[in-house]
Amino acid sequence: MSTQNELIESLRQIIGAPNVLTEGDLTAWVRDWRKRETGKALAVVRPGSTLEVAAVVKACAAAGVSIVPQGGNTGMVVGSTPDASGTQIVLSLQRMNSVRALDAANLTITVDAGCVLQAIQETCEQAGFLFPLSLASEGSCTIGGNLGTNAGGTQVVRYGNTRDLCLGLEVVTAQGEVWNGLSGLRKDNTGYDLRDLFIGSEGTLGVITAATMKLYPLPAAQLTALAAVPSLDAAVTLLGLAHRFLSSGLTGFEVMGQFALSLVVKHFPQQRVPLYQDAPYCVVLENSDHESEAHARAQFERLLEAAMEQGCVTDAVVAESITQARALWHIRESIPLAQAEEGLNIKHDISIPVSRIPEFVRVTDALLAQAFPGARLVNYGHLGDGNLHYNVQAPAGADAAAFLNEQEQGINTLVYESVDQFGGSISAEHGVGSLKIDKLEHHKSPVALGMMRAIKQALDPQGIMNPGRVVRV
Ligand code: FAD
Ligand code: MLT
Ligand code: ZN
Repeated sequence: MSTQNELIESLRQIIGAPNVLTEGDLTAWVRDWRKRETGKALAVVRPGSTLEVAAVVKACAAAGVSIVPQGGNTGMVVGSTPDASGTQIVLSLQRMNSVRALDAANLTITVDAGCVLQAIQETCEQAGFLFPLSLASEGSCTIGGNLGTNAGGTQVVRYGNTRDLCLGLEVVTAQGEVWNGLSGLRKDNTGYDLRDLFIGSEGTLGVITAATMKLYPLPAAQLTALAAVPSLDAAVTLLGLAHRFLSSGLTGFEVMGQFALSLVVKHFPQQRVPLYQDAPYCVVLENSDHESEAHARAQFERLLEAAMEQGCVTDAVVAESITQARALWHIRESIPLAQAEEGLNIKHDISIPVSRIPEFVRVTDALLAQAFPGARLVNYGHLGDGNLHYNVQAPAGADAAAFLNEQEQGINTLVYESVDQFGGSISAEHGVGSLKIDKLEHHKSPVALGMMRAIKQALDPQGIMNPGRVVRV
């Protein structure tokens, strides 16, 4: 029997044969969400407990077989699917989906890594708390994947990214040992921060099996508005006003370019998209208030009045009901899906200091128009955090796959060089995966790369944890 067959056999013994998938349609586990790549797995392995994960990792380490941890497989950078060799196992955490504890006094929830984000939000809400992490993929992404990528989403402007919401982790190391760091402590200065090493490591250092996350009180009211703005400069001015008028009530500030919104109208005609026809950009704003809805509404009115006086808002609607608020958010959340419907595209998940974003877009739009005539820009994102999704779609009518083949390298180089010029980052929230591993080598300093490689070698000397992702050793 080959080593691979022996490994499969011992995995079956460890977690039960039905949880080791080698045959049938494995597309859901081996193809990434954007359909950029389809890999081949030696097996899809679905353990049901931390001890089973540890035993699986030990067996793989002994056999020298690499492991691709996977949650909901909604990642954007081809990081959670196996390569084409057929020699890697996909370690799916989806069966580990229990809430372990909710500590109301400590304002924490401890969950298994495979818990779906939306299920965590709902559990917290039922208990009278807010778990603020929010992404359009929340119906299928998992907290393990959110931690693995240090996901951002639409509430970062107030609550920070996943890292900011995490107080502790349980991790199975690359050697198959279990590190229990689920303390739930808000203060703990006992040496290097191991938790922060694993957050954002995209499965390259170990497998996150559980996490203790922060909770917040539910606000008394959450109001949503849509504002039409005459330019990105105006959107940045509006952001400043929103911080001033709403203070910590400002929980969402998302910008959407006109072309991005036109794709939503085109591909989801049942959705009503107000204001966009007469404005180059629209902004979704959210005000969460701990006093009352009336208070939140009055604050919004004062903000929008001031913004209109200054000319940074030309028109606006404030949702009158939860249904209307959801419809406004739904427009924003539909953009990635509408873009996928339009065809394969080139994504740039970049961050730039907010103050420099309008100039970045002016300069880079002009460079792209000159070098790649006809390429269409799908521009939207978390402006409140300085995070733009500055995406490029093939010219209308062109073969998208051929366009990507021929132009992706050149377009990426142009955009990322511009990002460097403006002091930005080439990955704000999606991570590096395999899509950006080459780019990282160009855009991170040799000192930073050296430290990253040293960490990888120290924690995963065999190189079995998600190789070919984030950093090459
Ligand atoms: P996966 O895709 O399965 O994995 C992602 C990475 O994490 C991989 O490298 C994987 O190896 C690693 N990983 C997964 N589980 C573990 C684990 N238990 N231990 C260690 N490593 C692990 N992202 C944002 O940041 N902000 C957004 O607003 C946002 N919106 C999205 C909207 C849509 C419609 C879609 C499809 C995606 C969106 N994403 C967004 C991207 C994606 O949802 C996030 O990156 C999410 O955090 C991935 O979670 P997942 O469970 O699907 O992880
Ligand atoms: C978003 O903000 O919608 C997500 O990051 C997904 C994407 O950009 O495709
Ligand atoms: Zn995003």
